[in-house]
Amino acid sequence: MLATLCLVGLSFPTLWAQMLISCSYKNLCQKALLSGNDVVLRCDHGHTQWHFTSILGDELFLFNSVPNIETLPGGSLKLVNPQPSQTGLYRCQKNDNTRIVEYEIDFQDVKNLHITHTGLDQKPLPNETLNLGGMVLVFTQWDPWQDCNRCGVPGERKRLGYCYVEEPPEEPLACGLYLREEEMLHSRLRPELQLEACLVPCEHDKEIHQPFFIFDTYQLGKSTSNMWITCPLASIYRPVNWEANSIPLTWHDQLSGQDFSYFLDQSTGGKQLKIFWQATYKCFVEQELMVQFNPEARPEMLEAQRMAMLEAQGAGEVTARSGKADSVLKQLMLMLLVVTTLALVGLLFKVLCPAQGKRSNQILLVK
Ligand SMILES: *[C@@H]1O[C@H](CO)[C@@H](O)[C@H](O)[C@H]1NC(C)=O
Repeated sequence: MLATLCLVGLSFPTLWAQMLISCSYKNLCQKALLSGNDVVLRCDHGHTQWHFTSILGDELFLFNSVPNIETLPGGSLKLVNPQPSQTGLYRCQKNDNTRIVEYEIDFQDVKNLHITHTGLDQKPLPNETLNLGGMVLVFTQWDPWQDCNRCGVPGERKRLGYCYVEEPPEEPLACGLYLREEEMLHSRLRPELQLEACLVPCEHDKEIHQPFFIFDTYQLGKSTSNMWITCPLASIYRPVNWEANSIPLTWHDQLSGQDFSYFLDQSTGGKQLKIFWQATYKCFVEQELMVQFNPEARPEMLEAQRMAMLEAQGAGEVTARSGKADSVLKQLMLMLLVVTTLALVGLLFKVLCPAQGKRSNQILLVK
């Protein structure tokens, strides 16, 4: 296991784990999204039924029948790691078959993402007129820029762009919904990600210095030369930033090919980071410190350190000192036990009294 468990006695006031898609009552909403990133289709009307009609016309009654799709208690639908093949019509209805809301979603393939950085003078895809069974204009419809991924220090922001087709006088349509069963063979038919540098001041003290989670990366160096670490609650749809020993790991350096000491996963917008060396890694989501990965602190390393220290002192002192060190160790263990117990009691308290809205700063480490 990668993790030393860390326990968090706090709530996430501003963060929701998935991208939430809404549509007004009794309406049909069409939307392009990216594959590989979790979303929730909203339908908060209690007893609901979901039906899915794929772009190929296959119909499916969604009742926890598809492994990566889950109906949430309130009635909404959660799609974990949705695939381009899950493009189609999602209908939320009452038991008497009346429509509550319908979503026509084009999950554009994140593996084909075209990535550019304005700081490297890289240009997004130009508009192009293509013959897709008739001449149509293919263009990128951009989401607004996301917030800067840091505040108070230089950061980066990103925006997502989706492939759209325009065939006047019709309204533009997401490429997958336009093409239906046709394959997206042309290289212009792909989603985009654009990045740029930013520097914004911190509104109130958003960037706090206590992480929500703490993990160890002790696996690294044991048998592998690299490993992936994941930032909880991060997503391609929200601002994410990583630091190694307080040095920011930027898209700019990765895309310019200057820095090979890390690799930000493009298909999750940097939720996952591939690391090659031991350091303290921190991840920020929406400018908040989310997680800290500590370098190895293996017991045998501590023991080796202790032995080296003892050797440095006179041999005569060894027994006395090591006896003392042992008792210190025992005290530490006892303290850890107490802290663990307190953490569990605290958590229980938290669960039983959910009224507390404000996030506190306590972080409790549990082995
Ligand atoms: C590309 O096409 C879209 C849709 O017609 C239009 O809004 C946009 O201004 C065009 N961009 C350029 C650079 O021509």
